[in-house]
Amino acid sequence: MKKKVTKIGVLTSGGDAPGMNAAIRAVVRTGNYYGLEVFGIVRGYQGMIDNDMYKMENRSVANIIQRGGTILKTARCKEFFEPEGRKKAYENLKKLGINGLVVIGGDGSFRGAQKFSSEFDIPCIGLPGTIDKDMAGTDFTIGFDTAVNTAVEAIDKIRDTADAHDRLFIIEVMGRDSGYIALHSGVATGAENILIPEHKTDIEELISSLQEKEKRKKLVNLLVVAEGDDFGGGNEVAKLVKQKLPNADIKVCILGHIQRGGAPSCLDRLIASRLGYAAVETLIQGDKVNTMIGIVNNQLHYTPLDQAVKETQTIDPEWLKIVKILAS
Ligand code: F6P
Repeated sequence: MKKKVTKIGVLTSGGDAPGMNAAIRAVVRTGNYYGLEVFGIVRGYQGMIDNDMYKMENRSVANIIQRGGTILKTARCKEFFEPEGRKKAYENLKKLGINGLVVIGGDGSFRGAQKFSSEFDIPCIGLPGTIDKDMAGTDFTIGFDTAVNTAVEAIDKIRDTADAHDRLFIIEVMGRDSGYIALHSGVATGAENILIPEHKTDIEELISSLQEKEKRKKLVNLLVVAEGDDFGGGNEVAKLVKQKLPNADIKVCILGHIQRGGAPSCLDRLIASRLGYAAVETLIQGDKVNTMIGIVNNQLHYTPLDQAVKETQTIDPEWLKIVKILAS
């Protein structure tokens, strides 16, 4: 028989993402609405191990929907990947009577949740919170839209100065092993080329397209490179291009962590609010637990955690053709 959930814990784990606060707020307020006690767990799984958890009321999450980062803080916790760490975490949850868990994070965080929920009688719900959008089973991840918009704003500014100096700019964006931030920001800023780990880049072809552009005096070129691309990021791509085009005026800009901060976009606040609410509803209903809740075709979509940690998003190669055509 399913146990009734009465006290839930919520944590954020892995890299922070704009909108995590909105998700925490939704979990806390939905939980309180249904008469559950909600505990905020500080620094992700580390807080479970260190017993760093506190009761959250509706007021605890006032004025955070618009804030980037995470009020619960976050961490990547190696200890939780050891059986002793998870046992310690479980005992601490038990002491507080917590019998349901909401984990907001990326695939690494879900690996932890998947292990934990398979070993102990505490149902978990994963909410995809990562700027990388590297997870299958959801059209969106909390934070991706904001990160892409931040990248777009930055790349637009780079284009102004690139244009003034006739420069080739190589802009590296985040995404770990995923090319989604590069693809979306690159398409939206009219980049000449986008280098992503999902598709092999033919460097010779890239060079000849730049040479061809040089011939017709198109000297302003933006290459958006995903940090996880085959060549090892923006600096490495710059070295390769410089070898082949020694006269090109090349600058590299690594956007880095500015992509992770800032106020969440409207879309990220909406997704986070909807998913936070759904996480609590699902824990209460009890039949779809140990899943990641995503949104597919505007409907809630439940992916078992063990599946969620295995699958990644793919990128339709047609996008790269679109980039080439539109940048010509
Ligand atoms: O997973 C989110 C992310 O921002 C990746 O895009 C990036 O590779 C990584 O985290 C950076 O992590 P850290 O902040 O620990 O350097």
